[in-house]
Amino acid sequence: MSVARALDIAYVRLAAPDLAVQARFLKDFGLVDLGLHGDVQLFASANQAPYCYIVELGEPRFIGFGLWVESTEVLETLAAREGGGVEPLGLPGGGSYVRMVDPDGFEIDAVAGQSFKVAAGPENAIGWNENGSHKRVDVFRRTAKGPSHVLRLGHLGLAVTDFKRSERWYKERFGFLTSEEFEAEPGTPLGAFMRADRGGTPTDHHTIVLVASPTAPRLRHVAFEVAGFDDLMAGREHLSQSGYKLHWGVGRHIFGSQIFDYWLDPYGREHEHWTDGDQLTAAVSPRLVSIDAVMGVQWGVERPNRN
Ligand SMILES: [Fe+2]
Repeated sequence: MSVARALDIAYVRLAAPDLAVQARFLKDFGLVDLGLHGDVQLFASANQAPYCYIVELGEPRFIGFGLWVESTEVLETLAAREGGGVEPLGLPGGGSYVRMVDPDGFEIDAVAGQSFKVAAGPENAIGWNENGSHKRVDVFRRTAKGPSHVLRLGHLGLAVTDFKRSERWYKERFGFLTSEEFEAEPGTPLGAFMRADRGGTPTDHHTIVLVASPTAPRLRHVAFEVAGFDDLMAGREHLSQSGYKLHWGVGRHIFGSQIFDYWLDPYGREHEHWTDGDQLTAAVSPRLVSIDAVMGVQWGVERPNRN
């Protein structure tokens, strides 16, 4: 049994040397700028989270991320075990957190007690004419130009120095389930896609991806769910016209099955738009899969590098 159960990823924290430059990218990426709160700048998506992206002033670096857990009581248990304290977040939405440091030095916050905002309603839910079924009749599809509509922060990928050590650390505290594990060669674990244990409630195929890498420790990418395929493509055009650098896309992943598009922020950090990912309950057993399939695509552009 784990100490707590992560429900989902709450926020990501990064540092940027120019907050205005990072803010311009994030708005073109599709997040809402909530402005400065103390010494951090907050950004929100369309879902209920008060914010999902925290930028601090400083040399470009990935600081860490927050995970929602079930209750503030669970925070007390975590704090007692980790030797820390339960602190107020002190940001819009309130709530509390316990900050821990993972084996690679990333700051991981367990978060509970936030009050959620009203989520934006779904847009453009007019259906697709496909598979011989014409759901859209007497309605014209017109995709608006402009940034993607980011629904939520969905997952992130970490390059870690010791995969099994990090896997144990996250599973012991947050109860993550392995969706797919992959090996460098038979018998040598390299990494895994891990999801939240939500019992019978469907959840994303992965909330964190851990991969042992010679470039560790670092953030490999942070990923956001957008409204749909047209929305992803509109956002791609907007980012391209705004002068940002495409990293990888468009394609459909094999594990998680998302249609994806990766863009680099002004400091070279991978930000993924995705849509139509797999949803799994806790009943699905872990699978061992090939590393080639992990980096491969069902269709679309091949990954530009493999570290
Ligand atoms: Fe991803």
